Amino acid sequence: MPIEHAFDVPFVAALALKEKQIQQNYRPIIAVHKWFARRPGTLFRALLLSELGQERLADAFYRPQAFPGVQIADPFMGGGTPLIEANRIGCDVQGFDINPMSAWIVREEIEHLDLGAYATAALALTEALTASVGRLYRTDCPLYGDRDVPVKYFLWVKTLACAGCGGSIDLFPGYLLAENKRHPKNVLICPGCGDLNEVDDRKHPGCCASCGTALTSVGPARRNRIDCPDCGHANSYPRPQAGPPPHRLFAIEYYNPARKARHRGRFFKKPDASDLARVAEAAARFEALCPDFVPPEPIPPGDETDRLHRWGYRDYRDLFNARQLLALELSCREIAAIGDERVRHALATNLSDLLRYQNMLCRYDTMALKSLDIFSVHGFPVGLVQCESNVLGIRNGHGAEGRLDAPAVGSGGWINIIDKYAKAKRWCDAPFEIRHHGTRKVQVAMPGEWIGEQRKGAPRRAVRLSCSSATLADLPPASLDAVLTDPPYFGNVQYAELMDFCYMWLRRLVGHAAEGFDRASTHSPMELTGNVTQQRGLASFAVGLASVYSRMADALKPGAPLAFTYHHNRIEAYYAVAAAILDAGLVCSASLPCPAEMSGSIHIHGTGSSIIDTVFVCRSTGATRRRWLFETPDELAGVIAADIADLTAAGRKPTLGDSRCIAFGHLTRMAIWHLRHGWDRSLAMPEKLARVAEATAQWGAQDAIVADLKTQAIAEPPPLPYLTAWPDQQEDDDAVPF
Ligand SMILES: C[S@@+](CC[C@H](N)C(=O)[O-])C[C@H]1O[C@@H](n2cnc3c(N)ncnc32)[C@H](O)[C@@H]1O
Repeated sequence: MPIEHAFDVPFVAALALKEKQIQQNYRPIIAVHKWFARRPGTLFRALLLSELGQERLADAFYRPQAFPGVQIADPFMGGGTPLIEANRIGCDVQGFDINPMSAWIVREEIEHLDLGAYATAALALTEALTASVGRLYRTDCPLYGDRDVPVKYFLWVKTLACAGCGGSIDLFPGYLLAENKRHPKNVLICPGCGDLNEVDDRKHPGCCASCGTALTSVGPARRNRIDCPDCGHANSYPRPQAGPPPHRLFAIEYYNPARKARHRGRFFKKPDASDLARVAEAAARFEALCPDFVPPEPIPPGDETDRLHRWGYRDYRDLFNARQLLALELSCREIAAIGDERVRHALATNLSDLLRYQNMLCRYDTMALKSLDIFSVHGFPVGLVQCESNVLGIRNGHGAEGRLDAPAVGSGGWINIIDKYAKAKRWCDAPFEIRHHGTRKVQVAMPGEWIGEQRKGAPRRAVRLSCSSATLADLPPASLDAVLTDPPYFGNVQYAELMDFCYMWLRRLVGHAAEGFDRASTHSPMELTGNVTQQRGLASFAVGLASVYSRMADALKPGAPLAFTYHHNRIEAYYAVAAAILDAGLVCSASLPCPAEMSGSIHIHGTGSSIIDTVFVCRSTGATRRRWLFETPDELAGVIAADIADLTAAGRKPTLGDSRCIAFGHLTRMAIWHLRHGWDRSLAMPEKLARVAEATAQWGAQDAIVADLKTQAIAEPPPLPYLTAWPDQQEDDDAVPF
């Protein structure tokens, strides 16, 4: 049954929405290592089963599946979602990615790991680190007088030397450290003495209990300007010429295992002399080391990295404080000494992922009271208050250190990373799905499904991963049963600029032997992302995408699908997609909506961006559905309204941003439909893009279409008589062959 008929939008959308709210519960494998913009695994499982399966999708989804010998490729494998889903149901898979980190991570996901050996080595690592740096992550509890309790987070504020008097100014954007959501009271930092005050009403916080200064949650650092509290001089920041900004430790969130059960809320303190002495000790110890693994590389210019330069960061090591550098260097030394290569690589992968939390760009979430890792948005935002997590992590409970079964407290330490990784690898051995029965969630085992290349008693599956540009992919003609992918979304994510942050360390730790690791950086002129610094515009993105899709089209069996997800806030980014599909000689037979991001995710929140992707299904020959072929703006509105109704039924009432992307998807599909006869591949790309633009404009200006949607479709989606009948019943006259 082809996707066009078997794919069940409300069913898949509901699954994808749930998955994206807490992806590691549905696809624990994502914890192997961070990758950006991972699409829902449930979506790709649904696409595979729609295309390959014979039963109703909603039934097939929760039953173990096996499709040995089926050949699936992904030219942009990233973190590997489509490939993993295909491998899991027994297909042979082939993946490409220009970024060396991608091939490394997908291999880590697929390659079997002896979990016992891993647990032993991980415990030895954390014990060695506890012995060498553990005391640097301890503090004394002023509330109960207990000594040497573990620190969860150190909180640092950026400081500035006043250009008037030379004094050091704290760059506090606000004085609220913790809201009264997860803690009984609001915690405010005193602007005068720095003491922490717990208050009920943060609008009327009163005065500091220690020094009497009036408390406020509003900080003095605003729009890159601050007046010196001593001399009144108006200072501006950042000052790149002064180098990386200095920080001052101003607060600590710690954990007191002996008191936790009877204590209400969290434990906060202002650092005391011993805490400051530990900072100094860490700095002195790191100074005395000759580091082997701390990368010396400079941060190159880039669309994202330029922000770091504006803040005076020049080298990757500038992004860490001395305690972090010390702990990371010592971690690397321990890992490098592990004899078992598979386990060594697993822990090296963990170190690379740990870096996300062990750097001085992490922020503290004052509501959730936890660290926000460096990649919580797809960039390098530089905050004024930074959060340093305990590098070891903390086990819950009195005397729980060393107990692998005790859950972790806080985030961003070795223990957290190891636990998540072990869970991910257990899921690879025995994947499951989560089924919802009302509010009840049931784990559905999938006996016979597994992730890997070989397992006793099962036929070997081919796994070919290549760190290379898919624009050069050379595959045998008519060899693939499907290509499933999600390509770069023009300039939405700068993969190389971001991933270099991890690569610089991982490469030093594992050597240059891994495929692609001979490269000094993950940057490549062949990366298919729009990038202003690299002068890669829409036309070059389109040329690259067209080359990849053409190669994939040649490798597909006649009529087999190339299906991919896409969304962008600008219609121009879809012109490249249309031109690439047309150049590949394919027709777009479906443009299906599916949620693919978390609505609350920090990089989406408040941006008006869509969380809905269009899944484009393209074939050289096949059939589309008559009801999707609109000719007038009203018919287009009807098609969009049907999607909106499906998504609403699934639990997502589309926003205007969502509807815009849904509209762009359908416009792109129909532009391809109209341009498919007589498409001239020999034209220059700018000319092709202009033709696509003209074709998409025939239904009116996109802004007007979306404005119309706002008043009509979103407010009241028209009833859809066919919804109940589809996809079980296929009406013969609905198929339009091409
Ligand atoms: C949207 S991501 C894929 C995400 C992936 N599906 C996942 O689940 O994590 C797009 C990927 O395309 C890769 N890429 C960019 N240019 C490429 C090229 N020329 N050849 C192959 N891969 C490329 C990027 O490195 C990135 O990993």
